[in-house]
Amino acid sequence: MTDRYAVIGNPVAHSRSPSIHARFAKQTGEDVEYGRLLVPLDGFVEAVERFRDAGGRGLNVTLPFKPEAFAWAARRSERARVAGAVNTLRFDREGAWGDNTDGAGLVRDLEDRLELALAGRSVLILGAGGATRGVLGPLLDAGVARLTIANRTPGRAIELVDEFLRTSASAAPAAGRLRGCGFDDAGDGHDLVVNATSAGLAGDRLPIADALLAGAVLAYDMFYAARETAFVAQALAAGCPRACDGLGMLVEQAAESFFVWRGVRPLTAPVYEALRAELAAEAG
Ligand code: ATR
Repeated sequence: MTDRYAVIGNPVAHSRSPSIHARFAKQTGEDVEYGRLLVPLDGFVEAVERFRDAGGRGLNVTLPFKPEAFAWAARRSERARVAGAVNTLRFDREGAWGDNTDGAGLVRDLEDRLELALAGRSVLILGAGGATRGVLGPLLDAGVARLTIANRTPGRAIELVDEFLRTSASAAPAAGRLRGCGFDDAGDGHDLVVNATSAGLAGDRLPIADALLAGAVLAYDMFYAARETAFVAQALAAGCPRACDGLGMLVEQAAESFFVWRGVRPLTAPVYEALRAELAAEAG
């Protein structure tokens, strides 16, 4: 019997996850079907329980429901606990299992596809919202030497670091490596600059020094688009030698979810290529 999965969110119409998982299923021969669930902002739990009760096997959770999925899941992985958010739900005999594959997706895209070994690197993350919180643990676990979180509202970055250090199992080894600050106080010498703000959605430029971007080996935008994103354009114009958007992270977090559900790890490179081509064709 075909096992059913879906991505649940609001909005969800533009999600690439159905297309990614259809490719994974075809490639691995797993008998799965993957759809979209648009639910009202106050209707998350009801929709999840209905899907599960109708025999659904798992869900990807997207904005704005990741914290709510975390609160609802009966059991959670350590990486979900550190993120305070769940993007992957698996329904099995023991109940609902909540996991978070976003950080693993980012690390895998950086290290495997982009061949940037993270151990010993200095990483600057711009933004202090849910997107940042979701990736802190996996970046630290990958062995970065310094992780600086710079935010428009400095207090939020400082608060995020404090909370992380208070609650995470990786807190002790993280203490000397993690710092929160404002954009003006981001320091220098960062190898990697990651955009985790939502500024690009409005096409806004980030108020950070060009030298920060020019000195990095890679600028990475956690968001992606058919055309060059605002942050990728800003980084290249500032003199950064290499910049890319977050399509690879999207594919890798999906592969990690597929593994959580099926115990099978799909090949991501051909799916990334196909999706990139699909996006380019849509952009015309
Ligand atoms: P989420 O939790 O879903 O990631 P969020 O809490 O709204 O969403 O976080 C969005 C992030 O983008 C924040 O770090 C926000 O900065 P503030 O904390 O100062 O609001 C950042 N952000 C959004 N628009 C921005 C802009 N135009 N310039 C700089 N940072 C911006």
